[in-house]
Amino acid sequence: MRLWDGRFDRPTHEALEAINRSLPFDRRLAAEEVRLSIAHARMLGRQGIIPERDAARIVRGLEALAREVAAGALSADLPDEDVHTLVERLLTERIGPAGGRLHTARSRNDQVVADLRLHLLGLTRGLRALVADHARALLEVAEAHPGAVLPAYTHMQPAQPVLLAHHLLAYVEMAARDDGRLADCARRMDESPLGSGACAGVSFPVDRRAVAREAGFSRLSANSMDAVASRDFACEFVSACAIAAAHLSRLAEDLVLWSTPAFGFVGLSDAVSTGSSIMPQKKNPDGPELVRAKAARLAGRLAGLLGVLKGLPLSYNKDLQEDKEAVFDAGDSLGASLRVMAATLRGLEVREARMRAACEAGYLEATDAADWLARRGVPFREAHRAVGRLVRRAEAEGLPLARMPLEAFREAHPLFDRGVYRALGLEACLRSKDVPGGTAPRRVRAALRVARRRWGTGT
Ligand code: ARG
Repeated sequence: MRLWDGRFDRPTHEALEAINRSLPFDRRLAAEEVRLSIAHARMLGRQGIIPERDAARIVRGLEALAREVAAGALSADLPDEDVHTLVERLLTERIGPAGGRLHTARSRNDQVVADLRLHLLGLTRGLRALVADHARALLEVAEAHPGAVLPAYTHMQPAQPVLLAHHLLAYVEMAARDDGRLADCARRMDESPLGSGACAGVSFPVDRRAVAREAGFSRLSANSMDAVASRDFACEFVSACAIAAAHLSRLAEDLVLWSTPAFGFVGLSDAVSTGSSIMPQKKNPDGPELVRAKAARLAGRLAGLLGVLKGLPLSYNKDLQEDKEAVFDAGDSLGASLRVMAATLRGLEVREARMRAACEAGYLEATDAADWLARRGVPFREAHRAVGRLVRRAEAEGLPLARMPLEAFREAHPLFDRGVYRALGLEACLRSKDVPGGTAPRRVRAALRVARRRWGTGT
């Protein structure tokens, strides 16, 4: 059945049919399509736009269909052009000609964008729950290893010692912003375009507010052209997903590096690793690796969607049909990534001794030695140079700073005395970063408490 058959005298070319058909992917909107159609039909009856009797028949037919959709009873290979055509056909086959009245005062243009907004509101709720679970998985690792210390890196060179909990809390902060972005785009998504018709509004006395309320929208779109033409809500959703995926991919890369023999900071659970078909010894971090790649894929989805929108004249154009695979794929990919990262974190074996050992090499306490001098009144620039000289000498002798004789310190700068050794221990280095947001253990403990309150325990 073609919804638009009247003015056409020959069948659609199979090449056009193939490119035009959206049912293979927009069938995911079936639940929303039926639910919105129920609200629309009730309103048509109440407003006297169609006979109450027909409205009631339509609603009953759609309610039966809703149950089938919920039970997953829609067959996988249906011939229809799109989900809108499909629902109308199934309805009309069941209830007869009254089904033909459902499409009064609406267009697939306002339907599709209503379906999509509603669907994304649901997806956003689900993704926010997964973001929260991921944040809790990070907190679980942090809380299980409150004393674990490892090098923080800049330029991938060992920089300064930090608590593992501090490192993980960085990702918890990212998760909080990811959650905020999803919540924020959901607020803007939450408006009903129904009543916009094809582009100009509809010429029946519809009650837009009632339909919106029943469908679960908070507001009405204010302009019918904007309503059918705009997809910035979809861009925001994909963007929020792409940014969250980028954060996950950075964590994934940390874990990939940390699990290499060279680092040895963590072991990945067998449950989230795979083996090699040829090398029996291999245990590969496929989960984190795929998470890294999903981030690239999502960035591509965002670029693709923005590319469809740019330069598109008002109002609806069929190009907009291409929005759906982008948003569905964004939601699926982010959901899969969040799930696998939470599982990876929960299976993580943290090798505290290896992390600590990595802090002994690389002169991570050099800044603290310079700070020690600066606290004694030496201009920091001069202190930096003095400690630089000391590090060069220590490196040549193959010794850590704490094992260099006092004479070497004094040669680097005459104001050094024995007290400096106390500043060089790992714990002292950590303790001294006692600023809000710093890695001092008491600050990190407080940050963990704040994060726990925000994310709860998930039970
Ligand atoms: N499948 C279409 C889409 O996804 C539905 C809207 C079709 N509108 C139209 N005028 N052909 O955008």
